[in-house]
Amino acid sequence: MGRVEGKVIVVTGAASGLGLADARMLVAEGARIVMTDVNVEKGVELAKEIGAMFVHQDVADESGWTALMSTVASEHGRLDGLVNNAGIARIANIEQTTTEIWRETLAIHLDGTFWGCQTAIKLMKQGGGGSIVNMSSTAALVGIPAYFAYSAAKGGIRSMTKSIAIHCKQQKLGIRCNSIHPGSISTPMVHHALRELVGVDLTAETDPEKTRIALGVGEPDDVAHMVVYLMSDESKHITGTELVIDNGDTVA
Ligand SMILES: NC(=O)c1ccc[n+]([C@@H]2O[C@H](COP(=O)([O-])OP(=O)(O)OC[C@H]3O[C@@H](n4cnc5c(N)ncnc54)[C@H](O)[C@@H]3O)[C@@H](O)[C@H]2O)c1
Repeated sequence: MGRVEGKVIVVTGAASGLGLADARMLVAEGARIVMTDVNVEKGVELAKEIGAMFVHQDVADESGWTALMSTVASEHGRLDGLVNNAGIARIANIEQTTTEIWRETLAIHLDGTFWGCQTAIKLMKQGGGGSIVNMSSTAALVGIPAYFAYSAAKGGIRSMTKSIAIHCKQQKLGIRCNSIHPGSISTPMVHHALRELVGVDLTAETDPEKTRIALGVGEPDDVAHMVVYLMSDESKHITGTELVIDNGDTVA
């Protein structure tokens, strides 16, 4: 038996990086995964490869969430887990952030997480409970000037998670909601940041593994292990918490 055997779990932004690692590990632990992403080509290809279902979704579109949950209900009859993972990270400090960057960032991270949680709770309630993981960041915990809008959005995800957790507990819904706060993890998003901010192209290095470790950058599976734990019944007494995965960077 896998650690999440038979559970029906939606992972957003699953065509790359952390979402892909989460989906892969959850499938290996017995879950029935619905991967969603705006990148249809990659999503379809990867879902086929790992044995999951793929649904095209822009998390910043409210009607897409309603449609997604209808598909999950008709295909699987239930929803046990949601990983609100989809995200973008535009590099711009307070002086450089345009209204367009601000609105786009908040729409994907905050609106997307809000609608995801709201629509998931509706379906999870019918099955007697579930687990929601909201992908925040250490940017929610410390100041990161180069990611102004992103940090604001991740801070919002952190606090919204706690309100949802307590609401679900008070209403005895059997639904848990937690946030994960990674530091730098080796994904296309961070490769881009390293190129732009540090001048390092990790993908072009002769020994990328050595450079990754030297830069203190983690691996997607470091996060996926935590997602599996939070999706499993092993974490049944954990809700409203924020789990930091940064090799101690934010406590230094
Ligand atoms: N990699 C890190 O170090 C790190 C650290 C902290 C937080 N995070 C968070 O983890 C999540 C995943 O990041 P990643 O590093 O894997 O990035 P990534 O760029 O590799 O993957 C992000 C995925 O989200 C998808 N996506 C973007 N906008 C979308 C939308 N509107 N609707 C649906 N899908 C959309 C992309 O197509 C892509 O497949 C993000 O929320 C990110 O902010 C990452």
